[in-house]
Amino acid sequence: MKVNVKNHEDNGASNFIGISIINGDRKISFLNYGARVCEWIVPDKDGKHEDILLGHEDPTDYLVHPYYFGAAIGRTAGRIRNGEAVIGSTPLKLTQNDGPHHLHGGSHGFDTLYFDHEIEEQEDRVSIIFNSTLDDMTDGYPGNLDIEIRYTYTEDDRLTIDYRITTDQETLVNPTNHMYFNLNGDLKDDILNHTVNFGNAEYGKVDEMVLPLGENGIIKSNEKTIAFRELVESPDPQFSQFNGLDHPFMMTEESVVLSTPNGRSIILESEDPVVVVFTSNDFNFSDATGRRFYPYCGLTLEAQMPPDDINMNPSSKTILPAGGTFAKRTVYQFNIQ
Ligand code: GLA
Repeated sequence: MKVNVKNHEDNGASNFIGISIINGDRKISFLNYGARVCEWIVPDKDGKHEDILLGHEDPTDYLVHPYYFGAAIGRTAGRIRNGEAVIGSTPLKLTQNDGPHHLHGGSHGFDTLYFDHEIEEQEDRVSIIFNSTLDDMTDGYPGNLDIEIRYTYTEDDRLTIDYRITTDQETLVNPTNHMYFNLNGDLKDDILNHTVNFGNAEYGKVDEMVLPLGENGIIKSNEKTIAFRELVESPDPQFSQFNGLDHPFMMTEESVVLSTPNGRSIILESEDPVVVVFTSNDFNFSDATGRRFYPYCGLTLEAQMPPDDINMNPSSKTILPAGGTFAKRTVYQFNIQ
């Protein structure tokens, strides 16, 4: 395996550092800004190599577009109602960056940090270790935070994400990753031909501003897999209100398989109870290089604790005590079937 590091100083974007891991004819690329996964080039069953992630060639696009492409998300993934939460007896007033609500850790979330990086190379794997910090009371959260996000890519095209977060005061932590997959490759077709093995999927119903209602819905399916076209085009008001999905799905098995007819699949392995699936319902923009992003051009699989858990569950595991360490692992395994 080979590693290339590109300092983007040459195009005036001096803070941006891109790191690519080359695994034979496959390639995966990261960016220090937001500890992002920007590109994942893999073959289909006919040996055609294409990018299965949404990303930008020009890193300054990540400053402009608000969709968290490939980014590390934190301190907390998803929305917190009205930016209000109470931990212990301490009321928090978090940045309201999504109407009246708090989204994806606020305006100075993990996605906005320029992470330091280290590279560890071994025979069959490469790890990129991104480190950064957040100061006490950034976006209203107590605690100085040390954040380590370790991406490990192995020869068998397995991307492992290890999170390790420490705090010096009681705070909230619920990180995830916001990669958008399109297994058709190079954005040439939308994700409506993808399937996922949620089976009779249980999902959390949400209100019109995507806040959990505390009630669950079930998608009855005779098949082991559910077709995205059926869900996105479903007359169920839960889905039609957004012209698609923006919902937490319960992890009922240890893994979730996302597939396409071209033989590519991604297996997500996680111990998290929930996977938030967002199907880029409202996308309609072009980036600096003219790449066009359109409705359903990608979908996320955000493994996490439930969004707004702190307001739904008094003993929420999103509370990290002073001096505590949060650690979790999420794996995305690429396969050709
Ligand atoms: C999450 C949210 C969506 C949307 C996207 C990014 O997945 O649930 O509503 O905000 O992030 O834009």
